[in-house]
Amino acid sequence: MSLPRDLQEKIAALLKEASTTRLQQAQQAVTSRYRAHHNPVFQSQEERLSYLATRLPATYAVATSVLTKIAPYTASLTSHLDLGTGPGTVFFAVQALFPFIQQNTLLEKDPSLIELGKQLTPLESSPKWQLQDLQHAASFEPADLVTMSYVLNELEDSSLSILRAWEATKHFLVLIEPGTPYGFARLKTAREQLIQQGAFILAPCTHENACPMSAQDWCHFKVNVQRPSFHQKIKQGSKGFEEEKFSYLIAAKTSYKRSEARIIRKPIKGSGHIILDLCEENGLRRQVISKKNGPRYHDARHAEWGDTWDD
Ligand SMILES: C[S@@+](CC[C@H](N)C(=O)[O-])C[C@H]1O[C@@H](n2cnc3c(N)ncnc32)[C@H](O)[C@@H]1O
Repeated sequence: MSLPRDLQEKIAALLKEASTTRLQQAQQAVTSRYRAHHNPVFQSQEERLSYLATRLPATYAVATSVLTKIAPYTASLTSHLDLGTGPGTVFFAVQALFPFIQQNTLLEKDPSLIELGKQLTPLESSPKWQLQDLQHAASFEPADLVTMSYVLNELEDSSLSILRAWEATKHFLVLIEPGTPYGFARLKTAREQLIQQGAFILAPCTHENACPMSAQDWCHFKVNVQRPSFHQKIKQGSKGFEEEKFSYLIAAKTSYKRSEARIIRKPIKGSGHIILDLCEENGLRRQVISKKNGPRYHDARHAEWGDTWDD
């Protein structure tokens, strides 16, 4: 998955005057704070620019991959609220996928990120940028689609913010976190909270039963991210792609027809058989599909990690 050309060019223009060495140092500082779950707030303009160069391509790709899951149900959606928008990453993905969503409110507490986001925004779109600490909001403006991408990790206590986000949701609430045990744990807690509020879980779960993942395991998926030249320069290495692991949750206000199961690991393709690790209503299940299963074997050969599966 690659960033739209226009967005790549705008980021490249913003990075033009910055020193590569300082951006590399900034990127390393942000990464080590993030890994230690310690004060992830950006502390300099170099740190913000390094986010645009090294993280935005991945979070854009993840947002695109996750939002695609609601694509069949979006025809009547007109409004979007993005909480902790940063430079507007999810808004850019929403615009590329669902350009008919015209009312976009982008809430962020860092005014310098908002300024950068405005410079990345195409002239023809006019989102409402809102400078606010989401933890101090008594309520949010209701929207058909509410998103929070890579934000729960940054909140001391996310339960009240999730409740407010859910209250503002008219159709879908989409939560995205890193595909790590810590990111997944935040989403698992959010899932329990939302189910108590009556949410229908559209994905990745195909049910509202207790999450069957063991304490040592975590539900996550991956997307291949094309590395723009500025990414290669700052993070070094010549590989054109990198793999981004992510966890996500899509909660809906009403129910939809769901598949029976989701493939939660990379399918194991043997000679004459495929092994699928599935999560479904009754828990986790491993299914072996051999050539003898005919058309199902054909389907399994094309099935990918993260796809749904019906017997
Ligand atoms: C890791 S960045 C993610 C940005 C964007 N959502 C993305 O997916 O690329 C987290 C963002 O959440 C913002 N944020 C964290 N806590 C916040 C709060 N309490 N209120 C508003 N924004 C917040 C940060 O300033 C930062 O821009």
